[in-house]
Amino acid sequence: MTNVIDGKAVAVSVIDAVKAHHAVLESEEGKKAGLAVVIVGDDPASHAYVGAKGRMAKECGFHSIQHTLPDVTSQEEILALIARLNDDDGVHGILVQLPLPRHLDSEAITQAIKPAKDVDGLHVVNAGKLATGDLVTGLLSCTPAGAMHLIAKIHGKDLSGLNAIVIGRSNLFGKPMAQLLLNANATVTMAHSRTRDLPSLCVQADIVVVAVGMAELVKAEWLKPGATVIDVGINRVPAPERGEGKTKLVGDVDFAAAAEIAGSITPVPGGVGPMTIAMLMANTVIAAYGHFGKLRPEM
Ligand code: GUN
Repeated sequence: MTNVIDGKAVAVSVIDAVKAHHAVLESEEGKKAGLAVVIVGDDPASHAYVGAKGRMAKECGFHSIQHTLPDVTSQEEILALIARLNDDDGVHGILVQLPLPRHLDSEAITQAIKPAKDVDGLHVVNAGKLATGDLVTGLLSCTPAGAMHLIAKIHGKDLSGLNAIVIGRSNLFGKPMAQLLLNANATVTMAHSRTRDLPSLCVQADIVVVAVGMAELVKAEWLKPGATVIDVGINRVPAPERGEGKTKLVGDVDFAAAAEIAGSITPVPGGVGPMTIAMLMANTVIAAYGHFGKLRPEM
């Protein structure tokens, strides 16, 4: 029987650890961890994600701040806000929700965040630490860290001898995911839109991680029997079977068929998604511990 990985349950256990570590910080320092989230424009999906991040930050007991800026905000205005947040002693984590409106230079904005407050793990200092195998002094990108947490639940922390494939090469997910797998001793293949014969590469993998934003791209025939499948895609597709005009969320994997072949598989929704927010909370409490010169907690 396939193991459907319950990301919500694993996320709850991470959040419980975050709350416990935060309570220690508050009692020893008399201060809360502070998380500032910046959102520009009115994309409904981004607002939904940011709302969920803010609610969870409050549930963890953090000081949660949201800066909601209009679509017409200039690069200079955002950079000035980030400079203020960088200097604010009550803010330990800063996240700028992506994607940003097209007139803004996302990369320059991401790189303006102080690395010690970069709870998204996207600053070159944090990406570079991961790339050089330092998983201890930087901050890790939340979704890959969450996916890795789920993989460790199944295979343990040492992936020696296992073949892993990461489909998608984004800075936000694919690249850091591949680095994390490599650090855990997996043999890693990175596949992307220019890869030839993806199914024949995929079928060799013990661990398949996919994040390309293409509904149900990965088919059951692409999978090695017993493989672990981590689906990071979230795609809204028409669902006429639910009624006229209705839609549903599906991942990048054809879940129903893949579940017949996979050993373990994440559902969409309820798999990797809840882990992203949990790891963001973990990064915030880690950043706050760092601010107060305390040894970083284990989650
Ligand atoms: N948009 C979608 N996922 C993410 C994320 O993990 N971080 C940020 N900043 N924006 C996102």
